[in-house]
Amino acid sequence: MEFQLTEDQQMLRDMVRQFAEKEAKPTVAERDEHARWPAELVRKMGELGLMGVAVSEEYGGAGMDYVSYAIVIEELSRVDPSLGVIASVNNSLVCYGIEKFGTEEQKRELLVPLASGRMLGAFSLSEPGAGSDAAAQRTTAVRDGDYYVINGVKNWVTNGDHADTIILMAMTDPSKGTKGITAFLVDTHAPGCRVVKVENKLGIRSAHSCQMAYDDYRIPAWRRLGEEGQGFKIAMTILNAGRIGIAAQAVGIAQGAFEAALEYSKVREQFGKPIHEFQAVGFTLADMATRIKAARLLTYEAAWRKDQGLDFIKDASMAKLFASETAMWVATKAVQLHGSNGYSKEYPVERFFRDAKITEIYEGTSEIQRLVISRELVR
Ligand code: CAA
Ligand code: FAD
Repeated sequence: MEFQLTEDQQMLRDMVRQFAEKEAKPTVAERDEHARWPAELVRKMGELGLMGVAVSEEYGGAGMDYVSYAIVIEELSRVDPSLGVIASVNNSLVCYGIEKFGTEEQKRELLVPLASGRMLGAFSLSEPGAGSDAAAQRTTAVRDGDYYVINGVKNWVTNGDHADTIILMAMTDPSKGTKGITAFLVDTHAPGCRVVKVENKLGIRSAHSCQMAYDDYRIPAWRRLGEEGQGFKIAMTILNAGRIGIAAQAVGIAQGAFEAALEYSKVREQFGKPIHEFQAVGFTLADMATRIKAARLLTYEAAWRKDQGLDFIKDASMAKLFASETAMWVATKAVQLHGSNGYSKEYPVERFFRDAKITEIYEGTSEIQRLVISRELVR
């Protein structure tokens, strides 16, 4: 076994940390306050190769492994979890899906610009009535010659209002259940696809998620991803990989909140000494660091299994479950260790506390991760 990052992975970590500290940190609080989309930072992430980390160089990516991808999302999220999710959607939900299931034409036309950051991607499975029960799709796609005609409403499309391409799941044959769902590569600039509203969220406010509607949206058949009826399987396979990204985002959030609490415990004095000298505070810091390390190891191991071509469904869900619950726990403790200042927007832990919660909800709630893990255990 090898517990050390490679030299390339360490250099990547340093590079992304420097980018996040220098370029994202100065504006993170203001962007959160005003829910401002980080257009310039997204462009720079593309230039740095952070939008297609594990995509092969042939298709515009950086050609690195999935452990490297986890490192990128962790480091972005340590400073700005909104950047973490914007990048993770493009990397693991969109680029990975097209590289794994796309035709050569789709890879040339769409993956190359997406992986190199010239286009942005989104992933659209959830609907008003289809959240955890992802198979309950109401959006329909009806074949019409060389086109399909799509009608329906999709919820919570992260990156949706800035995306060029969306992987969209729709029902092509309702009588077949999960085998009646088909995936498409939507061109958002074509008529019939519109943003209904951008959600006003608790956290990750600089990332945008929106409701989108399709009204007789005509999509050419070459933009179908995979075969008719494969869409649910494609969505689930993509989410297996995506959950490693959200686990990494949660590790980054926990690390950011922990570092802030550690520093604060050294400078804040009460009863004539720094608060870290109180055993209750020191033990809390010890528990935070221990849980973060465990979450990080689970995340890297799930990524490593994927890199090795091993089955990783259970491992990705375990990493996502444990890391997200760790992020929420650590962020809560970090606020507590800041006392009243933890409740103020002048300190970053207030934001980490709000940002942490989403990791327990999206890409499958904690309950759904437990369902996936328990099914895999008895399979
Ligand atoms: N990997 C591969 N295939 C899978 C799979 C997985 N993890 N889970 C299910 N499948 C396959 C099954 O093998 C089955 O295929 P066969 O019929 O060929 O055997 C088929 O899919 C149907 O499986 P189930 O009967 O188990 O399906 P189900 O209706 O019971 O649902 C579920 C299973 C795990 C609950 C699933 O609906 C689920 O994951 N729900 C959560 C949805 C989710 O994570 N949404 C995230 C949206 S994207 C997002 O959130 C992005 C973001 O925030 C940034
Ligand atoms: P519900 O499914 O209604 O769940 C409500 C509660 O019931 C939860 O606690 C859940 O765990 C529990 N529950 C449901 N079923 C079970 C069960 N079988 N066993 C035990 N408990 C259960 N979706 C996309 O497709 N693309 C995106 O880009 C995207 N981005 C998002 C960004 C944000 C900020 C948010 C908030 C959501 C995003 N989502 C996205 C949607 C997200 O994946 C869903 O919200 C999530 O899967 C949960 O679905 P739901 O909100 O409908 O909750």
